[in-house]
Amino acid sequence: MSIKNFFDARSVAVVGASSSPDKLSNAILRNLIQSGYQGNIYPINPKASEIENYKAYPSVSSLPEAVDLAVLVIPASKVLEVAKECGEKGVKNIITITAGFKEVGKEGLEAEKKLAALCGKYGMRMLGPNCAGMMDTHVPINTSFAKAFPKKGDIAFFSQSGAMLVAILDWSFKVGLGFSKVVSLGNKTNLTEIDFIQEAADDPYTKVILCYIEDVADGPKFLDVVGQATRKKPVIIYKSGASQAGAQAASSHTGALAGSDLAYDIAFQQCGVIRARSITELFELAITFANSPVPQGPKVAVVTNSGGPGIITTDNIELRGLTMSRFTKETLDILRAGLPPEAGIYNPVDVLGDALADRYSFALETVCKDPNVDSVVVIICPTATNNPTEVARVVAEMKGKFPEKAFYGAFFGGPAMDEGQEILNNEGIPCFTFPEPVISSIGQMVSYNDYKTSQVSERQERPGNIDKKAVKAVFYDVLKDNRLVLLGSETTEVARAYGIPAAPIALATTPQEAVDEAEKMGYPVVLKVASPKILHKTDVGGVKVGLATAEEVYSGFQEIVENSHHYMPQAEIYGVEVQKMMPKGTELIIGMTRDVQFGPMIAVGLGGIYVNLIKDVSFRLARGLTRREIEKMIMETKAYTLIRGYRGDKPKDMGALIDAVERVANLVMDFPEITEIDVNPVFAYEEGLSALDIKITISVS
Ligand code: COA
Repeated sequence: MSIKNFFDARSVAVVGASSSPDKLSNAILRNLIQSGYQGNIYPINPKASEIENYKAYPSVSSLPEAVDLAVLVIPASKVLEVAKECGEKGVKNIITITAGFKEVGKEGLEAEKKLAALCGKYGMRMLGPNCAGMMDTHVPINTSFAKAFPKKGDIAFFSQSGAMLVAILDWSFKVGLGFSKVVSLGNKTNLTEIDFIQEAADDPYTKVILCYIEDVADGPKFLDVVGQATRKKPVIIYKSGASQAGAQAASSHTGALAGSDLAYDIAFQQCGVIRARSITELFELAITFANSPVPQGPKVAVVTNSGGPGIITTDNIELRGLTMSRFTKETLDILRAGLPPEAGIYNPVDVLGDALADRYSFALETVCKDPNVDSVVVIICPTATNNPTEVARVVAEMKGKFPEKAFYGAFFGGPAMDEGQEILNNEGIPCFTFPEPVISSIGQMVSYNDYKTSQVSERQERPGNIDKKAVKAVFYDVLKDNRLVLLGSETTEVARAYGIPAAPIALATTPQEAVDEAEKMGYPVVLKVASPKILHKTDVGGVKVGLATAEEVYSGFQEIVENSHHYMPQAEIYGVEVQKMMPKGTELIIGMTRDVQFGPMIAVGLGGIYVNLIKDVSFRLARGLTRREIEKMIMETKAYTLIRGYRGDKPKDMGALIDAVERVANLVMDFPEITEIDVNPVFAYEEGLSALDIKITISVS
């Protein structure tokens, strides 16, 4: 359901509107009136007949119409009763400003659940509770208790913290930032950041969407909806409150490698969200995205009047994955001829400390004509002779002459730079004091542009030869045996059912059975103790490799059982697993750990016993994972150098690896009860691959 008429409501009731200017409800009513809101305004108060020159009504039910929007600013004890009244009256949108719900404990949580149920029952959309309200500068409407109404602009800002929102608004006046919409999300009981992002993506007055959130309301829905929104306009999010819970609960290699905040990182990356790492960065990015055209590529030219800032900027350009433009010979010749002999003509162009505006003008015009320049960063440091304001005017003039180039300023200094910075910002040329925010903003814009242009829709095909029933049967037996961790022979059965190539393995309960199995699969073989309690088999003498005869297998079985009894007398031993010893291949890992918000995350990278030390893995969410994305994630790892064929080695079977990762992703999406998977090592060969050790943990679903 659209929430458009949440903002352009034709009538608004302020329930609890007080005549007392000290009360929030009075402030909200005054804000609504002063915002220039054109619709009908109804103060609701059982004791007053008129408030702020508007006729007051004793209750929602006594209103002459079912208003489009009701703002509830009444004590928590009254909210349920009034929300019900709204529902019965046919009010479709409510904002509950009132605090005292789930944030205060169990009782509050219960009340909030009842509030959610009322919204469901009457088909009402609710913002809050525990929120500061919302504003739209284009309607205009202000149902918040913020101190002031923001300047009109094209940034939509949604914040989970009301306090942060009102503080940012106040600050926005200092820096001249304008907003289209500002929403305090509160407890996100009904409407969440997802609804507002979706609405803002189609709002013609919004160019950039900004969010401050502490969590995501619904991981899968966020990925779908926000993934669509980012194709239309930039969505920049600052997320705080990285939870440690996920990382602590992880017992697998993959889980430990993922850490606590990684799911947000990859989810944001996968759906094109630009992640700000601080509040400062959130607004620096907002300013840049709202004002500047997106650079057409990563090549940056720098024009500076001093060496140090030029070097700092160059460092930052490399750090952010951008490239310093390499000027053409023609550009270099013109610069050489027109600048003093001491000037630097290669990028960064150093026009020297005595440069006045005309020298900047010459250098800028020359580099802007160079086809290897996508964006231009103009740096100036104050000297006794130069005039930053005039330089700013020159940059603004260049923007007019070269509209296809993106211009930025780093005006180093204090008050001497104020006027110049203001001129640039007013001209839509982002200008900061230091180069770091300039370069990080260019980097984010270039990446966003790459993301948008590379969005070719690829259908996610389900691989063939999948036997879900076989996996179900294995899990059933494991749970019946009161276990959650699968034995090697069981995990291999699961892998086979999903077409994941695995080395043959069989469980033997006697030495003779082990010999029979070894004969069947062919020598050499590996023996491993099979016990759900023994996780580190090598440590208890529970593994023997390279056994080439029946005698070795027979006595190997006996030794493993003896060792295991000796080191772990309490552990129940199911027998010994006989596994075909596979030829050595490139050791890789494929794994899965589950994130509470975004579901299964797939890892692929360098395998073996040092995985946690080397940490060469790349992650993606299993949801919607395509073969192309799997290929990209493999290419991100150092292991890819080995897969391609390192130092004369033949390349390994990339297709088989992509296939195996895709099958693991399908397995974990099909079986939510799988909590963790580690396939380590997987041996990759020139042709095909083989999973040697597969660990699967399940939960009781
Ligand atoms: N219908 C209409 N009006 C009602 C009502 C009802 N059912 N019940 C009470 N009222 C009126 C009261 O009579 C009062 O008006 P008055 O001043 O004319 O007497 C008005 O509503 C407000 O009630 P009051 O008891 O004075 O509450 P309050 O103004 O002290 O506090 C809140 C109300 C909502 C502000 C408070 O409960 C609260 O939640 N504060 C925190 C808000 C917050 O921080 N939100 C999150 C921001 S991020």
